[in-house]
Amino acid sequence: MATLADSATRFAHTPHPAPTPAAVRDEVLANPGFGLRFTDHMVSIDWSEEAGWHNPAVLPYGPIALDPAASVLHYAQEIFEGLKAYRHPDGSMALFRPQANAARFNRSARRLAMPELPEELFIQAIREIVAADKDWFPTVEGGSLYLRPFMIATEAFLGVRAAKSYRFMVIASPAGNYFKSGAPAVSLWVSDYTRAAPGGTGAAKCGGNYAASLVPTAEAFARGHDQVLFLDAAERKWIEELGGMNVFFAFADGSLLTPALSGTILEGVTRDSLIALARDEGLTVREDKYSLDQWRADAASGQLVEAFACGTAAVVTPIGKVAGHDGEFTIGSGGPGQLTGKLKARLTAIQRGEAPDPHGWVMRIG
Ligand code: COI
Repeated sequence: MATLADSATRFAHTPHPAPTPAAVRDEVLANPGFGLRFTDHMVSIDWSEEAGWHNPAVLPYGPIALDPAASVLHYAQEIFEGLKAYRHPDGSMALFRPQANAARFNRSARRLAMPELPEELFIQAIREIVAADKDWFPTVEGGSLYLRPFMIATEAFLGVRAAKSYRFMVIASPAGNYFKSGAPAVSLWVSDYTRAAPGGTGAAKCGGNYAASLVPTAEAFARGHDQVLFLDAAERKWIEELGGMNVFFAFADGSLLTPALSGTILEGVTRDSLIALARDEGLTVREDKYSLDQWRADAASGQLVEAFACGTAAVVTPIGKVAGHDGEFTIGSGGPGQLTGKLKARLTAIQRGEAPDPHGWVMRIG
């Protein structure tokens, strides 16, 4: 068993014995979609009460063995992250604010009664998989290597308490557009279901939150929409977030608003970055409550001119239409708005190494 020394973390490397043939990989990289294909390797690190974090390894990508009694399979003790690696014009590779993901991962771990992972180890694990699979960057415009760190409870025990053993893993997937439709603006269905209640796990990035969003999301799809919009659980009035992304509103006076982090909303890294970039542009950004009724009224009066969804996977995606049991309304022209386009361009230029990085968000990794 390799335990982790404080100073240097040595990952054992087992290269894939039969990596994906270059021709197959190139085909994937030219049209990756989202979350469909995975690279040749994965990272794994174990945790136990006795040994702490140990056995750091880069392994061939493949199925893992779990005891059927493993806690994750019964009580859903699972958390994850999403971040991207980018290939810059000079050929170097870079991550965007991985420290923010590492910190959020540990906030999620605390909420789900799981062990925290040292931030340097989280980042080192990501560096290891990107280095192992550096030939997996999409060639398609706007493409990136999506990284999915996650942790599961592995102890075989059916009593309801925090498990005593865990596995942290990272897998990687070449990514293009999150939305299949490729439509210029997405359409939302206002769900009757709620996503998170005060005191619950809404701010944690745990699989259970996403499991709870699947029926509402399927309903949105069945009604011809791209995403589900959740209102707050207490009053069913205030806008919280979408199925897997945060939301922003842009007004005719040039200001922006995004729902305040209230404990039920995921603290998006993209959300936080856009707030900073908008403020750099001199825009007023409020983090506050905003009701669906007010949104409808502001869209009708022309006070509200744009709205967009944002997240690591979705980047910045314009919202064109909102529909619910009370009818539907259109945002601005129903297509991409100017401010949305400008903020997206500012963000992605920094991520892709095509613009200066005034906030020091970009981490070069090779
Ligand atoms: C992300 O944007 O990285 C997410 O985790 C959202 C979703 C794909 C689950």
